[in-house]
Amino acid sequence: MAMAKVEGGNSSRNGVGDEGLVPKKRAGLWIPYRGCWLTPDAVKSVKLVEEQFQARSDDVLLVTYPKCGTTWLKALAFTVTNRLLHPAHAAGDDAHPLLARHPQDLVPYLEMPYRQLQQHPVAELEEIASPRLLSTHLPVTLLPPSVLDLGCRVVYLCRNPKDVLVSLWHFIHKVNQKYTIDKAFELFCKGETVYGPIWEHSLGFWNKAAVSESESDSRRVLFLKYDEMMAQPVEHVKMLAEFLRVPFSDEEVSRGVVEDVVRLCSFDKLKSVPVNSSGVCDRIGGLLMENSSYFRAGKVGDWANHLTQEMANKLDAIVEEKLTGSGLTF
Ligand code: A3P
Repeated sequence: MAMAKVEGGNSSRNGVGDEGLVPKKRAGLWIPYRGCWLTPDAVKSVKLVEEQFQARSDDVLLVTYPKCGTTWLKALAFTVTNRLLHPAHAAGDDAHPLLARHPQDLVPYLEMPYRQLQQHPVAELEEIASPRLLSTHLPVTLLPPSVLDLGCRVVYLCRNPKDVLVSLWHFIHKVNQKYTIDKAFELFCKGETVYGPIWEHSLGFWNKAAVSESESDSRRVLFLKYDEMMAQPVEHVKMLAEFLRVPFSDEEVSRGVVEDVVRLCSFDKLKSVPVNSSGVCDRIGGLLMENSSYFRAGKVGDWANHLTQEMANKLDAIVEEKLTGSGLTF
């Protein structure tokens, strides 16, 4: 799997990022764009991506709603696909790229922070050799048409909305103190949070996964859940490798290569790596965020420490109602 051309991981850089994730001036600055809430800057870049990005049939997209474990999925997919060149067990001697670069910078986003809009926005992506590993937070409805036309494979990672809400609130609150937990809760429940509503986001890919399984002989969407991946990481990494068409051989399994990958990409390991625990970087379109912001608690159910039971019940009821009949549960 081809690697993104990226320079240094610990300083402000161009090219990859959670474009327009954070409203810069006040809470609630996202606007609706074709059924999805985005910052005005993000709308501009989404339009450019839609117009100019040309998918290739062997592209694989890692798709997440923000704070569902994008960083983890990028680390895992990168490590699995590049394991011949960069064995995970070599991590002990500082040889692995994950020890030198933030996982966010190893797989580029489709929607970049395009501040210089006169530039061709997808030029960097075009320079990446096939097969490309790319990532995006875009809902299925905003994916560039060529992605769907060519039947590119998608790995979708979802997460319990209560944990997503809390994680997103922590992330945004670091740079926007007006984004209180009450404000975050109110907007999240209305679906008016960046890339939201979250239920539409997950349902879009859930339905796509169902259609792809019924219509084609090769699976197009691998639908994963953060909580299940936390509970059974080895099984999920094997599944991911199969889907990425780089399955582990019996010999690799017996050598413990899968466990090596899980260990290298674990929350505790990645959080402790200096390139992730220190420094700042602009990955959100004009704002420096600490690299460590992407590694907070890394727990299932941390929402219980931040939401009241009443808030939890309300959000659960909204999500349940929105997902009725779909078969999707979190
Ligand atoms: P918390 O804020 O609940 O801790 P994203 O990468 O999509 O921005 O998601 C960030 C969330 O994933 C954060 O959740 C972060 O701690 C968690 N995370 C980051 N790396 C992880 C890893 N290797 N394993 C599990 N969770 C991880």
